[in-house]
Amino acid sequence: MTAQQLMQQLNRDKRLTKEEWIFLIEHRDPQTAEELFVLARSIQREHFGNKIYTRGLIEFTNYCKNDCYYCGIRRSNRSAERYRLTEEQILECCGMGHALGFRTFVLQGGEDMYFTDERMVELIAKIKRRYPDCAVTLSLGERSFDSYKRMFEAGADRYLLRHETADEAHYRRLHPAELSLKNRKECLYQLKEIGYQTGTGFMVGSPGQTAECLAEDMLFIRELNPQMVGIGPFVPHHETPFAAELGGTVELTLFMLGLLRVMLPNVLLPATTALGTIDPEGREKGILAGANVVMPNLSPTGVRKKYELYDNKICTGDEAAECRQCLAGRMKSIGYELAVDRGDYRDGP
Ligand code: 5AD
Ligand code: FES
Repeated sequence: MTAQQLMQQLNRDKRLTKEEWIFLIEHRDPQTAEELFVLARSIQREHFGNKIYTRGLIEFTNYCKNDCYYCGIRRSNRSAERYRLTEEQILECCGMGHALGFRTFVLQGGEDMYFTDERMVELIAKIKRRYPDCAVTLSLGERSFDSYKRMFEAGADRYLLRHETADEAHYRRLHPAELSLKNRKECLYQLKEIGYQTGTGFMVGSPGQTAECLAEDMLFIRELNPQMVGIGPFVPHHETPFAAELGGTVELTLFMLGLLRVMLPNVLLPATTALGTIDPEGREKGILAGANVVMPNLSPTGVRKKYELYDNKICTGDEAAECRQCLAGRMKSIGYELAVDRGDYRDGP
């Protein structure tokens, strides 16, 4: 079996065994990668044409009760300057975003106890009332079934919760003992059960990650069958225990994006900010490897630098309009266009 043959098998069966995933990842080479990207782009074109979906990202709080070893806003980082946007500020971001053509708002934050179910429900309902043509995506970490349900009933459409790594031992290496892979997975199944369009994902090149870990990620994603998958390179943050670790590579991130597009043809797959951070043309390369979503920043300029999950994050000095324009230009340069559309997941062939 060669890497090329496995790629064809993946395209045909939409699944591989753990051993096959490991072999394919370990035996990738530039030629296999190029063939993979050609295949991934043909699938992407067939399902989405040359349209790229956009989501306006609103980073509304960087308070977090968790202490993940990789993350710049972990609770032990005493030098992080904490902020919380007011409801009014969040609604202003949405207003600006709507005028710019965004039809999905992603409310992302640390696990901040201030944002109780009551506060979230009220916020979500207000956004949906004011912008009934828009989708609301939440990215607030692990909460209870009841909490997820109440927010869904208030109008939230989608939820992003990366599993980070599907390998038990690797999960332990990245997180303190109070967090568990089991709970993370349970949250994801609950979100799907409630009816959210659900997104999971992982970091590429996080400390201790092996081809076996990535194989586990692909198997888990195949099983969960999410509507969205967010992956990006691990990028070290100077105020974390992983400050001196190596970051993930563009090359492996692109390869994993291509594999995801082939495995899940309809999946909503962003070319992430982290990929744009380690390579000035990372997002363009991500699209050309099979991604079909970009998530420019809508947060007020004053707080952007404070939502620093990793070092040198891009777009921290730009206004919302600049990010949208910038991305429109970048997409045009490679033959794609930004869609003004909610960009919902569509099932189908
Ligand atoms: N490098 C890259 N991605 C990171 N994230 C958190 N910290 C880092 C880092 N240092 C990702 C996690 C999380 C998402 C919001 O950001 O995967 O789920
Ligand atoms: Fe933010 Fe380019 S996308 S400046």
